[in-house]
Amino acid sequence: MLTSKTLYTILAGLAVTHAAVLPRSNVEYDLQSGAKSKINGEAPVAVSLEFFAFPGYVQNVGSTAQCLKNLGDAAGSPTRVRVGGTTQFFDLAGALEGPATIGLNRRLNTINNTIAAAKKAVQKMSNLFAFELGNEPDLYVQADPIANNQTWTPALDAGIQVSWQKQVGDALGQKDIIQGGVFLQPPKFSIQELGPVEQSSGSIDYVRSWADHSYPQSACGTSKTNLETLQNHTTIVNYVKTFQPEVDAARSLGDRPLVFGETNSATCGGGGISPTFGAALWLMDYTLQSVKLGYERLHFHQGTIDYSPYSWWGTKYVFAPYYGAYFAASALEGMSSISQIDDGSTELGVYSFWNQDQLSRAVIYNSVFYPNTTTVARPYQEVVLSNIPKGCHQAIVKRLSAQYSTSQQELGQVPTYAGQSFANSTCIIEGDEQVEKVKINNGKAVISVGASEAVLVYFV
Ligand SMILES: *[C@@H]1O[C@H](CO)[C@@H](O)[C@H](O)[C@H]1NC(C)=O
Ligand SMILES: *[C@@H]1O[C@H](CO)[C@@H](O)[C@H](O)[C@H]1NC(C)=O
Ligand SMILES: *[C@@H]1O[C@H](CO)[C@@H](O)[C@H](O)[C@H]1NC(C)=O
Ligand SMILES: *[C@@H]1O[C@H](CO)[C@@H](O)[C@H](O)[C@H]1NC(C)=O
Ligand SMILES: *[C@@H]1O[C@H](CO)[C@@H](O)[C@H](O)[C@H]1NC(C)=O
Repeated sequence: MLTSKTLYTILAGLAVTHAAVLPRSNVEYDLQSGAKSKINGEAPVAVSLEFFAFPGYVQNVGSTAQCLKNLGDAAGSPTRVRVGGTTQFFDLAGALEGPATIGLNRRLNTINNTIAAAKKAVQKMSNLFAFELGNEPDLYVQADPIANNQTWTPALDAGIQVSWQKQVGDALGQKDIIQGGVFLQPPKFSIQELGPVEQSSGSIDYVRSWADHSYPQSACGTSKTNLETLQNHTTIVNYVKTFQPEVDAARSLGDRPLVFGETNSATCGGGGISPTFGAALWLMDYTLQSVKLGYERLHFHQGTIDYSPYSWWGTKYVFAPYYGAYFAASALEGMSSISQIDDGSTELGVYSFWNQDQLSRAVIYNSVFYPNTTTVARPYQEVVLSNIPKGCHQAIVKRLSAQYSTSQQELGQVPTYAGQSFANSTCIIEGDEQVEKVKINNGKAVISVGASEAVLVYFV
């Protein structure tokens, strides 16, 4: 049935240059119809700090502790941190609330230094999760000391990785201490090709976890980024699917977490698209897809303070992508499994979240692009969620929104989550929480989601 509101939004939609997808009628999703995937980690939304920026983030940026705490509170478990590259900042890393992963150097081929650093870190960090031995070895070349003038190949890297794992692990007298892989662009360098060498060498016993890095777009050199593509649900689903062989490989090697040890929207800082609200929507959907696929957590990379477009906060501002991180952490909090209800082929992403056998929450993401070049009202899509468990009478809706997909907080277009926003210099959540209450009838709730918006729905 066409209500006057739907008719209006259809007419409005016709005039929207970018929003090719018009609202549809009778859009219904059975929340119990998807396959459940186990959620493997307690705090899947994590951060990665560039090693040179790390001391600044924790010592000079007043909001860092609060921004990490907000995410930890939303997730119900402290935020995990990875410090990339080689670092001597073990006291600072040891003072973080959550478990920390530390990168050590391999490229320079000075294993004695690496072992000495590892020993110091073990002494100083009670929160140590694992060491990475080298960063993105895909990028090493023959001229690097570690290559010893041989052609750098995945096989050469794998042989050296497993040898270093054993040497470092033995020097520490510890197994389960290395985060293996740390590859930029699987599959050429990948857990798939490293795994068999880990097994045949026996070094796999030193491995605590596996890491890939992932950036769906590039802002390096002459590469162009595209926000509409970034936040497109179908694109996100298809991109994350390409990591299925990595998940399968890690699983076949035993029960060790696989993480995105470093990830964000686009390499080389992310260019024009990364500080926007659209990037927050991408981040939310990408996190849910990755967790569903089997990644235990995602360390979103934070670059140079105040100059890295994909960073979540700086000295003066909190940036829009942080809202997507907060939303995803909130959705996953305390849940044991996730299912995707949509088939990935339309603009709508729909997920249900389970606490054991209890369907507890849902997320609806309307990925239709709504940029600031649009001149008409935002089109809304009515979505019917069905098969909500008996005994639930109300859906409590928390909406993630901003004026446009292109909105940036530091430019004055502040996103909101349940009506609240994060204060620029303190990262404290501000404003009164605003939730929408929707009645559940016959196990169904009708919820309206605007273009470039997402909602987290609690069933009570
Ligand atoms: C590394 O340490 C080992 C054992 O302490 C020592 O035999 C070796 O000479 C050292 N190598 C270098 C390059 O310093
Ligand atoms: C590296 O190997 C090439 C041949 O593969 C040789 O010409 C060159 O001298 C070698 N360089 C060093 C520093 O050993
Ligand atoms: C998302 O991308 C797909 C594939 O490129 C395209 O067919 C679809 O129209 C896009 N969806 C939206 C909502 O823009
Ligand atoms: C639209 O958004 C972009 C990206 O945030 C920004 O650079 C641009 O100035 C905005 N344009 C207008 C007219 O507000
Ligand atoms: C953050 O700073 C921007 C730009 O000065 C301002 O418009 C906005 O109101 C501030 N946001 C919050 C939540 O304080």
